Amino acid sequence: MEVKHPQMIPVPITDFIGGTVVPVNLYVRLSDSKFVLVSNAGQKPNKDQFKTYENKTVEYRWVKREEYSKLIANNLSIAGVVVTASNLNVHQKTTILSQAAGSVFTELEHMGLSFDSYTHSKQIVEATVALSESHRDLSDLFASLKDCNDQVLQHSLAVSCISVMIAQVLKWENQQTVEKLALGALLHNIGLKSLPAELVSKPKAKMTFDEIQLYETHPFKGMQMLLGLGIVPDDVIAVAYEHHENAIGQGYPRKLRNLKIHPLAKVVALASDFCELTLPGPNNTNPRTPREAITTIEVTMGQPHNREAFRALQLIVNKEFAKTG
Ligand SMILES: [Fe+2]
Repeated sequence: MEVKHPQMIPVPITDFIGGTVVPVNLYVRLSDSKFVLVSNAGQKPNKDQFKTYENKTVEYRWVKREEYSKLIANNLSIAGVVVTASNLNVHQKTTILSQAAGSVFTELEHMGLSFDSYTHSKQIVEATVALSESHRDLSDLFASLKDCNDQVLQHSLAVSCISVMIAQVLKWENQQTVEKLALGALLHNIGLKSLPAELVSKPKAKMTFDEIQLYETHPFKGMQMLLGLGIVPDDVIAVAYEHHENAIGQGYPRKLRNLKIHPLAKVVALASDFCELTLPGPNNTNPRTPREAITTIEVTMGQPHNREAFRALQLIVNKEFAKTG
């Protein structure tokens, strides 16, 4: 693991796609505090250029912290998340999500999870937030979700961060997949916006049968909403549709079993349960510690989620990630 630096972020060279323009300056690290510029913003470095610097093999390029979101926006656009260049103004902020993000990150920090993993995930989620806010259709959706319930936004941000942490432990190496995961988690509950605000704020234990039926339409409605935008990739839409499914086939709306559930949705489903238990909300007036939440999922809920994802979350909570990663 690279030694951290306050102003610079390491990006593995495997994250760069040969032959595509890199929108930021790239640096090689010479010592703890010394960096040298090796590629200017707007250049198209090829893979061989990436691998070596003065005949030395280097595994990372370094990017200035303030430019990192530009790089992520570029990757997402390559991955098909954003379709037009006009949507790539990552500096434009509507701040709805950004404001909520601050308090969520503080909350997660206090949970005392594995630090390296948390810091990396936070960077990815922050960049995904900036990108979402720069896209009018997406930021409109978030704005209307905030009108519905503040806690839904906070939950979505926390789920996004925890999902990326799980993906890291699972060694998902494709950066674009991880970024789709971050976006899918941010958008997973977007279908709640079509439900009455009183229902969304009501604890599930107090809902009538009919109210539960209505509440459980939100994955389907979310899927339809995102599909209607015409700009959201299928993987991200699948997260919204399948985030309440579980590996033992007792979720909703389709009671899918593990193999049938989209890999990104498996991770978000677990992260969502974990955040429901640990963060305060209408369903949780007595938040549990991360370790208590793990025990609750395992014992009380019978661990209904994908096993590998659950094991990864255990490692994060027990701070065993650094030993294995
Ligand atoms: Fe949900």
